Amino acid sequence: MARRISIIGGGYVGLVSAVCFAKMGNSVEIIERDPWKVDTINAAIPPIYEKGLEDCLKSHAGKNLTATTSYTSILNTDITMICVGTPDQEDGSANLKYLEEACKSIGNELKNKRSNHLIIVKSTVPPGTTRNLVIPTVISSSLNNENIEFAFNPEFLREGRAIDDFFNPDRIIIGCENDRAEKIVLSLYHNIDAPKIRTSFCEAEMIKYASNAFLATKISFSNEIGNICKKLGIDVYKVMNGVGLDHRISPYFLNAGIGFGGSCFPKDIKCLINLAETEGEDPQLLKSVMDINSHQPLKLVELLIQRIDTLKHKRIALLGLAFKENTDDIRESRAIPVILELQKHGAIIAAYDPVAIPSMQKIVSNIEYCSTAAEALKGADAALVLTEWPEFRYLQKEFDQMKSKIIIEGRKILLYDDKEGICW
Ligand code: UDX
Repeated sequence: MARRISIIGGGYVGLVSAVCFAKMGNSVEIIERDPWKVDTINAAIPPIYEKGLEDCLKSHAGKNLTATTSYTSILNTDITMICVGTPDQEDGSANLKYLEEACKSIGNELKNKRSNHLIIVKSTVPPGTTRNLVIPTVISSSLNNENIEFAFNPEFLREGRAIDDFFNPDRIIIGCENDRAEKIVLSLYHNIDAPKIRTSFCEAEMIKYASNAFLATKISFSNEIGNICKKLGIDVYKVMNGVGLDHRISPYFLNAGIGFGGSCFPKDIKCLINLAETEGEDPQLLKSVMDINSHQPLKLVELLIQRIDTLKHKRIALLGLAFKENTDDIRESRAIPVILELQKHGAIIAAYDPVAIPSMQKIVSNIEYCSTAAEALKGADAALVLTEWPEFRYLQKEFDQMKSKIIIEGRKILLYDDKEGICW
């Protein structure tokens, strides 16, 4: 049955969820406070780079998908999904300001609604937030409207594959307190073949944090093994290939390199550390996961210094700026600490990324941005590979244009022979 859904927040999660629910035949309204985003979505222009997003927008924008800045649109719908950001604050805790504002605005609109309305929280929030913040805020702003129900339904979308992940999830988690709410959420995903698990609000909220923390732990673990392997002259990729074949471990997320970035892992782990410490726990493993991750980019530069002697006035080509391939997102990209460290040592940086240059230009202005990998590599004293972009795999003659051939991979992608890896 097609549903009428409003989605608060036209950011990454909100927009991807909106186009996917529209693709499933529902009628979707995005409520977004940034008028520029509203206009671009309505004009079917994706405000972010994401595979498949443009085609989905072209098929649905202006038909069963619209965007607006006005909360009154909620009244045209029966389900509201909250997809606002919960950025980390200085102490690692999640900033719930946008969530609280959204809850007040939703409640305010629902004051006079007489039919049932389900609110589904999708934003990543600390356990207890749905119960202690979302429900009381919406209920009091709606003047105790008893027709409102709640669920927490986390997303596990990877940037660059988000649409595919949406339609092929490993599981769907439904945190709720009554069968009616569960039934509605189940109906939204009725044609998606995946285990659907009902939990309490807090369990669902914690599943999201624990999943991201475990995945990040796998990466830092692989990096630590990789650092040891490097010293012993062993290829960590061959090692982790053998390790990952144990079904209890699984072969995924064991790629060693310069560490994890992005909008989720660092933020969520910092938040979990803060939560643990607030409760008087010392989350030693999670802290080590973060420490290893902060150290990997510096290790890359240390290795480069060993190979090149001094970085002063040396031209260093950086291949890749995005936190991973197939995205223009540079949030927490490991390229940022690499750039800062290289600059500290007086290097001249020539950087290339297929799509992330405009994002990086907003925060780093004093480096040379190149329009091709060949341009960055020409005359370079060394090259560092920072993102696993598929196009880097086939670079060959471009490396021959370097002044000296010191090529170090922070991500394993090159087919070119004359190279070494940060920890392989
Ligand atoms: C992640 C989670 O995977 C997703 O479920 C969640 O909802 C949001 O956060 P995303 O941030 O898009 O998704 O990226 P992901 O593909 O998980 O990669 C995160 C980072 O880890 C990247 O910087 C990537 O390069 C790095 N990584 C990943 C490794 O260093 N090694 C690996 O083996 C895998």
